[in-house]
Amino acid sequence: MDPLQTAHSGPRKKRPRQMGASMGSPLHDIKFQDLVLYILEKKMGTTRRAFLMELARRKGFRVENELSDSVTHIVAENNSGSDVLEWLQVQNIKAGSQLELLDISWLIESMGAGKPVEMTEKHQLVRRDCSASPNPELQKTSPLVKKISQYACQRRTTLNNFNHIFTDAFEVLAENYEFRENEVYCLAFMRAASVLKSLPFTIISMKDTEGIPCLEDKVKCVIEEIIEDGESSEVKAVLNDERYQSFKLFTSVFGVGLKTSEKWFRMGFRTLSKIKSDKTLKFTQMQKAGFLYYEDLVSCVSRAEAEAVCALVQEAVWAFLPDAFVTMTGGFRRGKNIGHDVDFLITSPGSTDEEEEQLLPKVMNLWQRKGLVLYYDLVESTFEKLKVPSKNVDALDHFQKCFLILKLHHQTVDSGRCSQQEGKTWKAIRVDLVMCPYERRAFALLGWTGSRQFERDLRRYATHERKMILDNHALYDKTKVTVEDSWKDPDGSMVPIWARI
Ligand code: CTP
Ligand code: MN
Ligand code: MN
Repeated sequence: MDPLQTAHSGPRKKRPRQMGASMGSPLHDIKFQDLVLYILEKKMGTTRRAFLMELARRKGFRVENELSDSVTHIVAENNSGSDVLEWLQVQNIKAGSQLELLDISWLIESMGAGKPVEMTEKHQLVRRDCSASPNPELQKTSPLVKKISQYACQRRTTLNNFNHIFTDAFEVLAENYEFRENEVYCLAFMRAASVLKSLPFTIISMKDTEGIPCLEDKVKCVIEEIIEDGESSEVKAVLNDERYQSFKLFTSVFGVGLKTSEKWFRMGFRTLSKIKSDKTLKFTQMQKAGFLYYEDLVSCVSRAEAEAVCALVQEAVWAFLPDAFVTMTGGFRRGKNIGHDVDFLITSPGSTDEEEEQLLPKVMNLWQRKGLVLYYDLVESTFEKLKVPSKNVDALDHFQKCFLILKLHHQTVDSGRCSQQEGKTWKAIRVDLVMCPYERRAFALLGWTGSRQFERDLRRYATHERKMILDNHALYDKTKVTVEDSWKDPDGSMVPIWARI
């Protein structure tokens, strides 16, 4: 048997320790001066790493104990290119173009050959210079990180999208399937958009899509058509479709969902003005507010406006709970510069359950007295009733929250250019406030940061790859307590991981 393949469990007999030096072991001659290797311990383990380091040194390779600037080759096992890049980022080391990230197969083959073998595509975890360049010439010599995860939470996504032409098309199709309540196709196109957004290059031929996960046949057809014709006939048809246009328009009103849109569409409505002026229709409070502040709400919230809202939220929250943490979540926390609303997570280490419960009502009360609340809906916490985590990756959480429309006066924002109406000195802004128990803050923050696709995949990843369940409240280890048991036992709520560490 090949000793290299049986080395996983580590050498049985204890060898004299001789690999303590931080430079390559002085006991062996270095034959290949140009290469300085570092073997990654992550997912390999200490014993196997020590074994491979010793073996490589005996074969004349220079292997460093510590990662330093002199390292030219990082060798990893069971890690993808993005895993290693992520690890390097945590170490605060930038993977320059001179640093090779290689799979262990390269070292094993090299040791077998008694000299460094040529680094080919199959060894390289990241091809040289994966700089985010849309230049097709550069791409040919520097394609992407080899293995792209099917999970959004395992991918790095830049704010720079090199595949707009495709992702815009996918988003239209996904939205249309959502309007038609075809969840399967809707998800397929949303996943495809998410994965293409993570690519550091533009797709220019079908060959570029090889190895990219989440691209189903239906998706690939759209890509192919766009590559060939510059546009997708299906997207074109959707954009011209009366039903799509109407649903898009109707759902842009705060408080209007698919059911209402469907009803209005069937009734023959095609414009908002006709709907607003119809005497027979009944609107919810939410929809009334939606129509009333329509122009403001459809115009995006800028970062400056979000910061101004943040100051208002902090001021109000701290008036009642001075120790509370107020964190802006949602798209703005992810670095976006515009949003459709501003989301906040509030938590207080020192407050009692009652104080916690009273905070949002007090804030609403204060703002109402100041005339700042244009609409609000306070949703009480259902947290106490929660026994088991939700298996549904799209399930909502049980925290107390408030969905509101806030009146933001212009003087609290740098520029006053956001109002279309003459003389209007304020803008209506959608705000989501979430209050969570202090010990749940990490999970709540993770859950409310989004994006929705990221959250969905994070939960799928936890379930399928880690045998755990993640939701906005906790992370549960299914191997320690079975979900089935806790479902059967009315009092046997699962023990969340945080409670045991
Ligand atoms: N969220 C949630 N439960 C809800 C609503 C939202 O857990 N009832 C989470 C979602 O995971 C979402 C995040 O909170 O990713 C923020 O939601 P939202 O404001 O709808 O989306 P953003 O990503 O902030 O995008 P936008 O800029 O359009 O507001
Ligand atoms: Mn948001
Ligand atoms: Mn929101």
